[in-house]
Amino acid sequence: MMDNIKLTKDIYYIGKVDDRDVPFHRLILTKGTTYNSYFLDTEKPTVIDTVDMIYGREFVENLSKLTNLEKIKYIVVNHTEPDHSGAMAGLCIKAKNATIVCSEIAVNELKELYKLHNREFLVVKDGDTLDIGGKTLLFKMTPYLHTAETMITYCVEDKILFPCDIFSTHVATFDLFDNLAKEDITDDFIGYYNAIIAPHRNYVKILMEAIKDLDIKMIAPSHGYILTQDIDKYINIYKDMSVIDLNGKKASIVYSTMRNSTKSIANLIKTELENANMEVSLFNANKDDINEILKAIESSDVVLFGSSTRYGDMIGSIENVLKELKEKDLEGKIAGAFGSYGWSGESIEIIQEYLNDTNMNVLNTSNIIKNTGMTEVEFPIRVKFSLNEDSSKEVIKAVEYIKTVIK
Ligand code: FEO
Repeated sequence: MMDNIKLTKDIYYIGKVDDRDVPFHRLILTKGTTYNSYFLDTEKPTVIDTVDMIYGREFVENLSKLTNLEKIKYIVVNHTEPDHSGAMAGLCIKAKNATIVCSEIAVNELKELYKLHNREFLVVKDGDTLDIGGKTLLFKMTPYLHTAETMITYCVEDKILFPCDIFSTHVATFDLFDNLAKEDITDDFIGYYNAIIAPHRNYVKILMEAIKDLDIKMIAPSHGYILTQDIDKYINIYKDMSVIDLNGKKASIVYSTMRNSTKSIANLIKTELENANMEVSLFNANKDDINEILKAIESSDVVLFGSSTRYGDMIGSIENVLKELKEKDLEGKIAGAFGSYGWSGESIEIIQEYLNDTNMNVLNTSNIIKNTGMTEVEFPIRVKFSLNEDSSKEVIKAVEYIKTVIK
């Protein structure tokens, strides 16, 4: 911790600058990073986020020089990934009277990560406020930016947003405020967005809705620069880079349906892709001409195949189309399988096998987790029986993901 860096007269920076080549999300952060944590020295002293676990001991020792840890009333955890919650185990031992403030999903994660099963938690929901004695904290849920439990905290009186990973930069700077930066930080800001936020950019609209009525004078994120100037510029970068307009892109959806359930999924996918201005061709493999289907596939950016399952297999003529794919050069296209089923849904897996035999980029849950850390999107798309409200949401979530990976 650097000596008494203050954001206001009673809000302290208590983070850590990490100027190594930092391994992170299968990247090497060659400019390093910082783990920004904040101490609000109010009547009910409050810590917002902590630092990476390897600096946990140092963090707690440094904070103990600034305040009596037993007087800390709240520890706000905006995001549970260990680069921000990593000091929780050590801090909670010393700050024995502190209540942990976090989203509902975060509770169990923190309990399991840091053995905090016996701690007091305060679960906050979107729009909740907390009086910390002289200041008011407002909490907004920002799910999947970039994990399910993420939320942001706004200090009403000081008009400071503490958004954790959001609006961050990966730069190991000791000049923590943007106005002290020796060069323009926009490229670092955009680079961070591309590395961490872009795969989740369809959730940025929730963030924009959450902050649209806030008067933000300062953004104090948990990596890199604290933003004090051109706040709207940085917010607009997120807003603009998250718009998904697929005008000029094409998709082909080919299905074979038994009782119209798989057809309903195909139609829902079509509608969702068209909402992003994509041109979508929909084919019933049992009725439409195979040459027309293959021609459309070859000119598409996204190709999706769906079949109902009957007696453990696909139905109708869709296999005739799938057999043709292996011989074609379909490199660069995104492919996926879907279908409704009643018991095991073998047809969906068989389609997936056919797709894996091509040179297309086939969507599957394992790769999505590896590449983005997202666990909420599942491919292939499997719908038990007919679409209902819940399964429709899952399909829409999957299509939203497709939109983010179309180049
Ligand atoms: Fe900076 Fe998602 O951790």
